[in-house]
Amino acid sequence: METRRIRIAPSILSADMSRLGQQVAEAEAAGADCIHFDVMDGHFVPNITLGPLVVEALRKVTSLPLEVHLMISSPERHLAAFYQAGADSLTVHVETCPHLNRTVTQIREMGCRSGVSLNPATPLVALEEILPDVDLIVLMSVNPGFGGQSFLKGSLPRLRRVRAMLDEIGSKADLAVDGGIGIATARQVVEAGADVLVAGSAVFGAREGVREAISRIRAAAAGTS
Ligand code: DX5
Ligand code: ZN
Repeated sequence: METRRIRIAPSILSADMSRLGQQVAEAEAAGADCIHFDVMDGHFVPNITLGPLVVEALRKVTSLPLEVHLMISSPERHLAAFYQAGADSLTVHVETCPHLNRTVTQIREMGCRSGVSLNPATPLVALEEILPDVDLIVLMSVNPGFGGQSFLKGSLPRLRRVRAMLDEIGSKADLAVDGGIGIATARQVVEAGADVLVAGSAVFGAREGVREAISRIRAAAAGTS
């Protein structure tokens, strides 16, 4: 029996940036559980997106948690700025952090939820020592950098393995899956152990609109569609 509550985290990367506040309000009204905020620096990943100013602006228009996914080199230099802007969680990539324990400790000591993310080809063993200190794992199911890519199937066994690692140490950390999530993939990733579904193009690019898209993804995730 499934007792985990599934959370839907719309990624604003695929939102209409000319009316970002409205899009976030639409997602909130549609029952989104948090807002996923993709920060890219044109260095760790090829694309450049948003910074703390946008987090600060959105903090004023929603009461949902703002989950900031930092796809940037040297994330430790920017943690305080994002936290002060209103981030509720800060997720760093293990590939960008030679001193991951220090960086995660820095996030927690600010009073923020700590997250760690892994690219599709990064061995899960990179999580082992840090797992007891994190509140959120963001497992990438595409190579980070762009919205609208196809889900990598190899992510399913990876999710199962991370879920088993969390269970083994009795961790209550959230397990998010990020990339290519929509009605076609939601159920499989939930069955594999994900409890947070990050979805960008499937929410903000949906022809049926944000409200209907979120409700369809939720139904698919629950296996009731
Ligand atoms: C990818 C980002 C994702 C992205 C997901 O680099 O981390 O959060 O917005 O977009 P979709 O849901 O369109 O794959
Ligand atoms: Zn993301």
